[in-house]
Amino acid sequence: MVKIEIFDRIERLAERVSDLLARQLEVSPDSRMGLATGATMVPIYEEMVRHVQQNRLNLSGVRTFNLDEYVGLGESDAGSFRRFMRMNLFQPSKMSPGQSFFPWPDFAPEFAAYDDFIDTSGGIDWQILGIGRNGHIGFNEPLTPWNSKTHEVILTDDTRYANRQAFEGDWRKVPTKAVTMGIETIFRARTIILVALGNQKRAILAQALHGPVSPEVPASILQEHSRAIVLCDRAAGSLLDK
Ligand code: F6R
Repeated sequence: MVKIEIFDRIERLAERVSDLLARQLEVSPDSRMGLATGATMVPIYEEMVRHVQQNRLNLSGVRTFNLDEYVGLGESDAGSFRRFMRMNLFQPSKMSPGQSFFPWPDFAPEFAAYDDFIDTSGGIDWQILGIGRNGHIGFNEPLTPWNSKTHEVILTDDTRYANRQAFEGDWRKVPTKAVTMGIETIFRARTIILVALGNQKRAILAQALHGPVSPEVPASILQEHSRAIVLCDRAAGSLLDK
């Protein structure tokens, strides 16, 4: 059963995420965290950094595994997820480069080796996710098999268009390929926190949480997870059952 929490203010939601993480790190300071990028994560990481600065959160013992990365970008290229993470979380919270892993380029070309690496590292304890307007999680678009492991994907023009902002607003500059954790990789995380913000996520969030569990809506797999928590604002949560 997915636990749903709806917030009036994004600051409160972001604080709740950091509190949930702090609780996890109290029990296991060396937790393995699965991390997402994207607009939704900006205020979430901002609050985490604040918690670190206030000594309410200690990330010095964690290892992090990002969900996905574009193929072909350098780590300093504007649109790369490695850069996004460095700017939004790793640098301001003074984490060291050795703590963090990405599926590309480190695990090319045998991307499923990322799953093995995660397993031998102890598995992901705490995974944070956003959700795409079509229900994607990571870059797992509708109809991705439930048993998928980390794999390469060809990005649709729609997805490239949705991600154009980090590429000077020009969707043609968005790479055509990415590597993403699979649905199975994500589902194996012990705790999953999904964050959804804004009107544009309203319809898909209701479908993912109250509709059938189906590969047509990748995020619907959360309904089968034993510890999934969805945190959303009023706009994204407005079609959810009360
Ligand atoms: C990013 C990721 C994606 C995003 C999703 C929502 O690492 O895996 O699934 O979480 O596309 O993106 P935003 O937050 O930009 O709406």
